[in-house]
Parts: sequence; structure tokens; C-alpha cells
Amino acid sequence: MNIAELAQDHVSKDRLNRTLVELAQFGGRSDGGVSRETLTDIDKASRRYLIDYARSLGCTVSIDDCGNLFFRREGLQNLPPVLTGSHADTQPVGGKYDGAYGVLAGLEVIAALNEAGVQTERPIEVVSWTNEEGSRFGPGAMGSSAFVQPDRLAEYRQSVDPQGIRFGNALDEALAECADVPRVAMARPMAACVELHIEQGPVLESAGTPLGVVSGIQAVRWFTVQCTGTMAHAGTTPMGVRRDAMVIANAIANELYALAPRTATAPGTPELRMTLGRWQVEPNSVNTIPGRVEFTVDMRSLDDSELDAAEQALYAACKKHSGESEAAVVSKFFHRAPTYFPEGMLQVIEKGCTRASGKSGCHPPMRLTSGAFHDAMYLADHCPTAMIFVPSVNGISHNAAEETDLKDLVLGVQALAYTVVALACE
Ligand code: GLV
Ligand code: MN
Ligand code: MN
Ligand code: MN
Repeated sequence: MNIAELAQDHVSKDRLNRTLVELAQFGGRSDGGVSRETLTDIDKASRRYLIDYARSLGCTVSIDDCGNLFFRREGLQNLPPVLTGSHADTQPVGGKYDGAYGVLAGLEVIAALNEAGVQTERPIEVVSWTNEEGSRFGPGAMGSSAFVQPDRLAEYRQSVDPQGIRFGNALDEALAECADVPRVAMARPMAACVELHIEQGPVLESAGTPLGVVSGIQAVRWFTVQCTGTMAHAGTTPMGVRRDAMVIANAIANELYALAPRTATAPGTPELRMTLGRWQVEPNSVNTIPGRVEFTVDMRSLDDSELDAAEQALYAACKKHSGESEAAVVSKFFHRAPTYFPEGMLQVIEKGCTRASGKSGCHPPMRLTSGAFHDAMYLADHCPTAMIFVPSVNGISHNAAEETDLKDLVLGVQALAYTVVALACE
């Protein structure tokens, strides 16, 4: 048996489950969800839990200037490490597994290697990235993108949360609380990176397959649209003379939704996805005509040219409907082309998944793409990278009801263990 197989066979369901339950207590909610937004006191306490657990496994812990935590198991040679991990922060109301699973899975791989008593050629590092969610401080995947491109950190430090707290100040506090953890450089060379994550969608579940080899991540663009009218009395202002910012916002919204019709397609079928998720209405009063409406647009597709067309349609709709009231795209605050993971990485992952699923008598792995973005999206710019998915019950995530069967969680870690160890012995 080779070392990758040995590591896979030493993954412990009970140890994994215990750490998942323990970490979920930081910010744990009575409805089963987790509220652990980045760099809150709860998030900082959970960081201490991870540091202590990693040290108990014999890892060397380090932290970089963006607060990303690295847990390292040395290899026989001082070569660039194989990196795995994810994020431990959550949405305001998140689940137990989005992110946390990938971090604890990496630590379970180290525990399995310890138990098997074997050493890899390359070091293995498990990372817990800072602020993947982007719900408290935008944008998301800050830690991983700053790791890959450290110049970005200066701009990120200026990001402000809804309470007016600056990311830079919250980060400095978190770094001060980790004074016992040595600082490590960003953008360090990595041999490869593998991120294990729950799918957060319905594809694996509907295929009845517990393991997914993620071949890429769809493109995404985020915009803010601002519509301006005139506040006036709802009862006295005749319909014909109003400048109602909501009317124009509504017309633009309908055009955008028409680009992405709600037809029933099989899970996993490529399609344009359109979400108008955040709305601000001024003065937001029952009896005043809206004077200003601001809304966000999140558009995603596997095909960047489809997003080019949707973006042009957005500008055109703003122009077309502007008249009495006006609309304009005031910012394009995030965009990312599709990510394609390298075939060589997919094949290693496929081997690990096939062995794990074969031993447990379930369906072989399938390839799929990711609808959500992940830290691996940025790491793909830095080193050979790919991802493994396990199913989400009912495809639900960013919700307290997020669930994955423990047996699938274990299979995912088994696939990860094989992959990471195989890469660390190349
Ligand atoms: C975050 O995971 C996103 O895809 O928006
Ligand atoms: Mn996540
Ligand atoms: Mn998430
Ligand atoms: Mn995500």
C-alpha cells in the first residue's frame, strides 16, 4: 500500500465529527446554524481553537499579514508545501460546513498521517483563510486573494463594515491576539492546492454521487445600480408627474430577469444566473415616493461572453429607461473570469475519489463545475489548484439548514487525504 492509500485509510469518522461539532459551537445557533462572521470575537475565539488543535497534532502554526492561519506538517524535504484548507468564517446566518469543513478536513489529513506514522516528501500546510464570505467586509475571498497578490491588502484594509469598523483595524486586533504565532510571508511558493468544500448546490445529490471533482468555477460580475427620482407625497402627487425611482429600478430589474429566464433545467446545466440581492430605498417610507433606489446585480455564467452581453444589456437598460428619473451603473465592484483547474490535478483527485468511493461501494465520482466562488479560485493563479465537492442535502447553503451526511463528509476527507498525500510525494 502506498502512503496516499495509507493516509486515506486512517481518516477517522469520529475524530472528524468531534472537531466539526466543536468548531460549530463557536457562533452555534439554536436552529443548528452558525453565526461567525469574519474577525468578530467569536471568529477570533474559533481561531484560537484551531491553533490549539493544530498544535496538539504537532503542527507549526504561522500567520500572514492578512490573518490567514497556516498549520504545517514538515516533509522529508524542504520543498514548497502542498496546501489544503478553506475558511472558518461564515455568513451572518450560515451553516456548520461552508468553509469549516475544508479546514478541519485538512487537519484530519494530518491526524491520519500522524496515526499512520508516515512522512511525505513535501510539507503539507492546512490554511484557514480570512474573510472568504465577504458579508461583513467586502469583497469576499480577501485572505486568499491577498495571499496571491499582497498589493491588494492595502486597499482591503480600508473596507468598512456596516458598523463603520475598518477591516484594517479589526485585522490588527486579531493579529495582536495571535502574538504567540510567528508571522509568515504572503505569496510563498506552493507546490499545489486542493480545497474540499460542500457543493452548496443540487448537482451531486440529484446524481446520487457522493464525490465531485470540480473542474472549474463560473465567472461572476457584481454591479451597483443607482436610480434617482424625487421624493414626494404618495397621496397628493398625480401619477403622471411623478419621478419615482422604484419604477425605473423595476423596469431595469425586469429586463435583467428576462435575460435569465426561470426555466427548469437539469442541475448542472450551464445557464446565466441573475441575482438582485441588496436593495436600498430612500426614504423607505410607506407614503413617500422613492427618491433613490440602489440595488446590486450579481451575474454568473460559465461563459464569460454571456456576461459581456448581460453587462451591455444592463448599461442599455439604464439608458433606455432614463428620462424623468435616471438610472446608472455606479460601480462594478467585483468581477472574475471563469476558473479552469488543470487536468493533471483533476486526475489525481479522481484517483483518490475513485478509491474512496470504490471501497465504500458507492457511485464513482463525477466532474462538475462550481456555482459559488471559493478561495481556490485565487490560488489557481498561484499554483496548480483544484477542488473536491461533497453533496449538500437539498442543495441548501448560506442557511442554518445546511446539511451533509456524515458518511459523505468522511468520503470527502478520504479523497482529500489521498490527493494531498499523493501530491506531497511526487
Ligand atoms: C460565495 O461563495 C459566492 O460564491 O458568492
Ligand atoms: Mn465557503
Ligand atoms: Mn459561503
Ligand atoms: Mn464561498
